[in-house]
Parts: sequence; C-alpha cells; structure tokens
Amino acid sequence: MGLKKKIRLKTIPQHIAIILDGNGRWAKRRNLPRHMGHKQGAVNLQKITLEAHQLGVNYLSVYAFSTENWKRPKDEIDYLMKLPKVFEEEYKDAFKEYDIRVVFSGRRDRLSKENIDLINRVEEKTKDRQGLTLNVCIDYGSQYEITEAAKSLAKEVKDGALKIEDIDILKMQSHLYTKDLPDVDLLIRTSGEIRLSNFLLWQVAYAEFYFTKVHWPAFKARHLYKAIKHFQKRERKFGGLKG
Ligand code: FPP
Repeated sequence: MGLKKKIRLKTIPQHIAIILDGNGRWAKRRNLPRHMGHKQGAVNLQKITLEAHQLGVNYLSVYAFSTENWKRPKDEIDYLMKLPKVFEEEYKDAFKEYDIRVVFSGRRDRLSKENIDLINRVEEKTKDRQGLTLNVCIDYGSQYEITEAAKSLAKEVKDGALKIEDIDILKMQSHLYTKDLPDVDLLIRTSGEIRLSNFLLWQVAYAEFYFTKVHWPAFKARHLYKAIKHFQKRERKFGGLKG
C-alpha cells in the first residue's frame, strides 16, 4: 500500500501550520534571483494546499509575510506584496474546483489598498466553501496579535462590557485573528531552522513540531506525508498521562 493510503487510515491532523522558509536559498542554489524562489514558493503553496485537502486536512495556516519582513530590501517586499494578486489570478479556478476557503491573518493597517480589497474580496467569495480552509498569514506576528487581544479585552473591561473574572482562555482566543480556527495540531518548518519566529505562538500550545531541511519550493507531497507520519507516531497527551 502506498504511503498516502497508509496515512489516511490513521488520524489526520485537523490543522497544519507551515513556516514557509528557504525560498531565497532554493533560488541561490540554482543561480536564480531571490524572487524566483518566492514565485516557485507560491506555486508550491497551491500544490500543497490541494494535497492537504485531498488527505482530509481541514485547516492549513501558512506564514507568507511576517511583521519583521518589512526590514527586507524594497524590491523584495514589492515582489512579495504582489504575490496575493498572482495567487488569486492563477489559482482561483483550482481553489473553486476543490472548494477551498481562504482567510487571512495579520495586520491590515500597513497593507496597500489593493491588497486589503483583495483580502476582503477573496474572504467574501470563498466564505461558504466546505473544503480545506487556507489561512494565509500576511504582516503577521504572534506577539502583536496577543498584545492587540489584550488591549481589546482591556477596553471591554474599561467600557463595562466585560468583567475581569470573565476573562479566560476561551475569551482570549476569541480575540485572536484565528478565532474561527481550531488550535494547530502539526507545525512544519522547512529549510533547517529550528525556531518559531513569532508564528502562532498561542495556537501551537499542544502542537507536534516537524522540522525538515528541505527548502519550501522543493517541499513535495511526499515530504508532507512524512511530516504527517511523524505526527501519527506521536502520542498526544495534552498534559495528562499515557492512556
Ligand atoms: C521565506 O523564504 C519565505 C518568505 C518570506 C515568503 C513566503 C511566501 C510565499 C511562498 C508565497 C506566499 C503566497 C501568497 C499568497 C502571499 P526566505 O526568503 O526567508 O528564504 P531564505 O531564508 O532562504 O532567504
């Protein structure tokens, strides 16, 4: 039996998060300009999204642009900021066919009007779809997300709409960008780095981690199967004892 069939028979992680790293290194190795790595990274994102959907994964969160990525050279930022449009134009038909819902997480106040319009349009158009939900994190940073949640809870308390005693984990979660998504089950980071880089810090509280040296544009279906197999071998205890 093929690996794909084998993994389908076990528990499929409901929510996978991926830190898409190594586009630049992938391009450099091939003597290509960095932006070609990002282009190929976007192509790969579409492929892996459809693959995850076919495996029965319900949510896929990807780190496309962090709150710190604004420190990169302007031409690279300009290229990355054009990718949502390319992504929309080239992949909308496939996403429609597979019934993929797309949502975005991150700050909205520093994006161009074109990108904000695109985000609103894509979220609205795909909101009733029943397939996998792709959560694209753009201008995303976990510490900022949690700080904003704390601020809005504080404001509710100040306005008399919320009592301090009523602030609990669920209340906090309901103020995060990911309020409609379950916690992450499996976090994957490509390209060899073993760190979280401010990605979904709250949401990965009980996630299994999988790190691979493969650069993102070269991360194929078989690498995804391997990561899921790794997840399926772990016994998740959520702080309890072995059953
Ligand atoms: C990390 O590689 C990758 C990024 C900063 C961008 C990731 C974005 C995409 C793959 C496309 C996303 C698609 C949409 C819809 C926005 P790196 O540049 O840090 O690589 P390096 O560490 O090898 O230099």
